[in-house]
Amino acid sequence: MKATAKANANIALTKYWGKRDKKLMLPQNGSTSMTLSGLYTVTTVEFDKKYEKDAFVLDGTELGEERAEYKKVKKHLDLIREKAGISEKARVESKNNFPTAAGLASSASGFAALSAAGAEAAGLKLSSQELSALARMGSGSATRSVLGGFVEWKPGEKEDGSDSVAEEIAPKEHWPEFRMITTIVSTTEKKVKSRAGMAQTIETCPYYRDWLATVNEDIENVKKGIKEKNFALVGQTAEYNCLKMHATMITTKPAMIYWMPTTIAIIHGILAWREEGLESYFTIDAGPQVKVICLEKDVPSLEKRLQATEGVQKTVVCKPGEGVKLIEEHLF
Ligand code: DP6
Repeated sequence: MKATAKANANIALTKYWGKRDKKLMLPQNGSTSMTLSGLYTVTTVEFDKKYEKDAFVLDGTELGEERAEYKKVKKHLDLIREKAGISEKARVESKNNFPTAAGLASSASGFAALSAAGAEAAGLKLSSQELSALARMGSGSATRSVLGGFVEWKPGEKEDGSDSVAEEIAPKEHWPEFRMITTIVSTTEKKVKSRAGMAQTIETCPYYRDWLATVNEDIENVKKGIKEKNFALVGQTAEYNCLKMHATMITTKPAMIYWMPTTIAIIHGILAWREEGLESYFTIDAGPQVKVICLEKDVPSLEKRLQATEGVQKTVVCKPGEGVKLIEEHLF
């Protein structure tokens, strides 16, 4: 009853921001993303009678029962046990190859890997749609990391949430030249996590209804742009959608300003370089890191300029990556 899975992070091209049902983790709006090669979580799950309680080891440190991450993992294990009709406690070990909770979507790869490894270890045979619905129960953005390439998370209409799942827009092979350069600006944990932040936005932001009213158009444009490989359409829409989400964050009470001075320096850089003919677009999640959307041919000049921007600690170039998969090498 042991299994290991590897899941890549994903970055939204049009964002998920807000839940219509907190218990079933159903989103207010649909979203689209690219699964990233190279930023991943590996997780091993073992259910066994020998364990007296669930244990969760993250990046080599065992987390105490009082930790929020432990509670989320335990809740997810309970859900898997309930589906599989088993009662054994579990040991979970998980490793990220990038900093946790800094706006690099660690909860997405984390819960996609935990769901796949947990379901396999518990003997559940799930379709990729069922697996994405399970991952969604851990973290909304994890719904999308189950699939590779370019992905849409359908908000769904059913009350039980069974149709709020990921669907492929195009496989990674469709557009192999597409890149996202992730810039690491700060590795400090953010003050307001996405979950609390989005709930606060729904409650207090006067523009939230405008966000909802315009998101579907962005989704359609991104999907069209991906299918037709229209880079400007994908980039412009992603940038615009990101700015609209941040407009709701900034006008939430209390205001959530995730951008740091370096974040803004990169935005200005991208706008100026575009004027010169070097085409790239930015997208930013609930954190200070900027993800630069570009094509392979422009990576060397963009990386050079990004690395010369004050405050940029690191850049990681990501191609379209694969969906979650089971692997043989267990972490324990
Ligand atoms: C800004 O998926 O981390 O990155 O569902 O509460 O776990 P929970 O939130 P999470 O939120 C992601 C928000 C975002 C946009 C996105 O990835 O679509």
